[in-house]
Amino acid sequence: MLAPTLDAGLIRLDFPILKEQVNGRELVYLDSAATSQKPTAVIEAISAYYTHANANVHRGVHVLGERATEIFEGARESVARLVGADPRGVVFVRNTTEGINLVAQAYARERFGPQDRIVCTEMEHHSNLVPWQRVREQTGCQLEFIPVTPDGRLDAEATVRLLQAPTRLLAVTHVSNVLGTINPVEELIRQAHGEGIRVLIDGAQAVPHMPVDLAQLDPDFYAFSAHKMCGPTGIGVLYGRPELLDEMPPFLTGGSMISVVTLEKTTWDEIPHKFEAGTPDIGGAAGLRAAVDYLEKVGIPSVFRHGVELTEYADEMLSEVPGLTRYGPQGPDQLGIVSFNLEGVHPHDVGTIVDRAGVAIRAGHHCCQPLMRRLSVSATARASFYLYNTRDDVDALVAALFEANRIFGS
Ligand SMILES: Cc1ncc(COP(=O)(O)O)c(C=O)c1O
Repeated sequence: MLAPTLDAGLIRLDFPILKEQVNGRELVYLDSAATSQKPTAVIEAISAYYTHANANVHRGVHVLGERATEIFEGARESVARLVGADPRGVVFVRNTTEGINLVAQAYARERFGPQDRIVCTEMEHHSNLVPWQRVREQTGCQLEFIPVTPDGRLDAEATVRLLQAPTRLLAVTHVSNVLGTINPVEELIRQAHGEGIRVLIDGAQAVPHMPVDLAQLDPDFYAFSAHKMCGPTGIGVLYGRPELLDEMPPFLTGGSMISVVTLEKTTWDEIPHKFEAGTPDIGGAAGLRAAVDYLEKVGIPSVFRHGVELTEYADEMLSEVPGLTRYGPQGPDQLGIVSFNLEGVHPHDVGTIVDRAGVAIRAGHHCCQPLMRRLSVSATARASFYLYNTRDDVDALVAALFEANRIFGS
């Protein structure tokens, strides 16, 4: 059954920044894959925390300490509900990158050696690639990559070949931040688990845009960032299977993550606190909780439908722009992200010209240099959509691209 459509025109009113004038035009924000804009509800939740509840968590015996702890732990409950996870497996980190580093250092580095293999893919963001290169340097383990096909999907044959011994861990993105490809992670997890292989999913581009049910997907680890899902920067989530987190040593050590400390030795707090050293981003948690509430109120299935429909419309309109090459699957397994190049115009020039029309897109390697090499380009222009974007935004982009062609004489 199709989810109800959402009214992006109404939703825009919840995002004050969308009223900004940029270069004399009303802002058209098509860079949500980098970071999303924030609704008033989130901005106010952060402000309310600092105005009415600011204190440190888990320690105070005073009222503000209790308020802060309720907000912080309430955020954990909200996130757990959103993604169908056991709250004991929800670790607050700074962002997706830190979540993946936690697994690289506290799981892979601890267990792997030269006889073991980690498998990644060629479409990974550097955040899900460089930490594994580091583990290879530290442990001597092998690291291999599932290639990307010309239409922007994972090579199925190589996947089968690589998802067997000596592979111990598969680290793969749920949705590509360049191609928009929605990878078949449920099937990948099933395949990997059938071979005794652990799976980490980089969910940075998935959780904001589509229903994610970790109870059903059953990954071992799953990471995402608040700032791409209407929440603030500075806080993210690593979900870990509780029994694995229990077995793992801490990543960072110090205050807040201990049980008993003597001068000789320290024992660790229970999970998830064992992985949350030092004072956490409590204001960020307040914002994240409000972001989850906001997205649930709109309805993630509706957000998903909107992203798919807007991407289809963008594909249709972009196909009319002369000299435009699109990258990515352009099918039902593509979500909210449109990468392209204009013949004879460097993507940075494309970005600058459309910015003059008030349209914010991104140009560059998008932290995916190996994928750029696979696509035989140095960079692409990328437009990415979210719940507040409308067909008018797509039209503004397309008009600006025609202007770019005019300026560069193509
Ligand atoms: C797929 C993917 N993974 C990881 C990241 C890194 O996210 P963060 O910078 O929030 O750690 C991004 C950010 O663009 C991303 O798109």
